[in-house]
Amino acid sequence: MTYTCAACGQSAEDYVPECPGCGAHGTLRRLANLLASRPRSTFLTGPAAEPKRISVGLETLDRAFGRNSDGTSGLVLGAVYLLHGGPGAGKSTLALHIGRALGRAGLLVLGVSTEADEGMVLALHQRTSPTTGQSDLPVRYLFSRSLLDVLAELEETGAEALVVDQLHSLMGSPKRNLAELVAACKVRGATLVCVAERNGAGTIRGERAIEHMDDCTVALDRSWAGREDESAAAVAQTITPLEVERRIVSTSKNRWGPDGRWSLRLGATGWDEMPAVPTPAAPTPPAPPPANDLN
Ligand SMILES: Nc1ncnc2c1ncn2[C@@H]1O[C@H](COP(=O)(O)OP(=O)(O)OP(=O)(O)O)[C@@H](O)[C@H]1O
Ligand SMILES: [Mg+2]
Repeated sequence: MTYTCAACGQSAEDYVPECPGCGAHGTLRRLANLLASRPRSTFLTGPAAEPKRISVGLETLDRAFGRNSDGTSGLVLGAVYLLHGGPGAGKSTLALHIGRALGRAGLLVLGVSTEADEGMVLALHQRTSPTTGQSDLPVRYLFSRSLLDVLAELEETGAEALVVDQLHSLMGSPKRNLAELVAACKVRGATLVCVAERNGAGTIRGERAIEHMDDCTVALDRSWAGREDESAAAVAQTITPLEVERRIVSTSKNRWGPDGRWSLRLGATGWDEMPAVPTPAAPTPPAPPPANDLN
């Protein structure tokens, strides 16, 4: 009787627990069984199913995430989003904003805070959700730096969305932690929004592989980036208060929408649309010359 390894294809005359080819454990199967149960190729017929989207309550950000043919725009359910930006760019505020929007849309959301404590999260929620009052944060919160705690809580609660702030302060390797979070979310169809630290070059800190694991990378930048050496007060004297609040939100490697750059505003009450700058009135055209009575 011939056995074949389902992992590497190595054959063996007799069953052995460990594949003699790749050393994998328990992968030897009878060839006939392997062939009968293998996945089959097929021709693909259209149209492609479009993803399910949820609005995050900011039209510009919804557009940045992408739009379906019926006009629905927003965050794609089941997708993985990585948010990065410099210190104070607004990552935590945006992660909370998105988690809260998903919770208000009826999803069971699990927020993981690796740095801020309960008081800080609640204070941020209340400051950025002034109209809805005190305690209606529709997100379960876990305060831990342990990946195991996060995975266990995800399993236990059956959360449909996971918002992690932030990846780089979970214990262990950020790359491995993200791989585990992505795998756990993909298996259950949960959406993952994960804040990541940025390095000096403006990309996500750590191995480049991290940026290959998401479905959309979202970068947050101040419009006055490049002036980090100057104090905020000095910068504020040279630009309008609105420019101080402007954040450039860039999407890249977006699987479900465009790559692009959008302007949003991060003020004391959180994220908001950037008001349109009124265009200066066109100069009044000179009055036509008086009609010539002689014509
Ligand atoms: N109490 C406050 N009142 C008004 N605005 C505040 C207050 N606290 C913070 N902010 C604003 O929010 C911004 C910081 O937002 P947030 O904490 O989301 O940034 P972050 O990118 O997560 O920062 P970090 O890199 O420290 O984690 C600040 O730059 C500031 O503009
Ligand atoms: Mg933060």
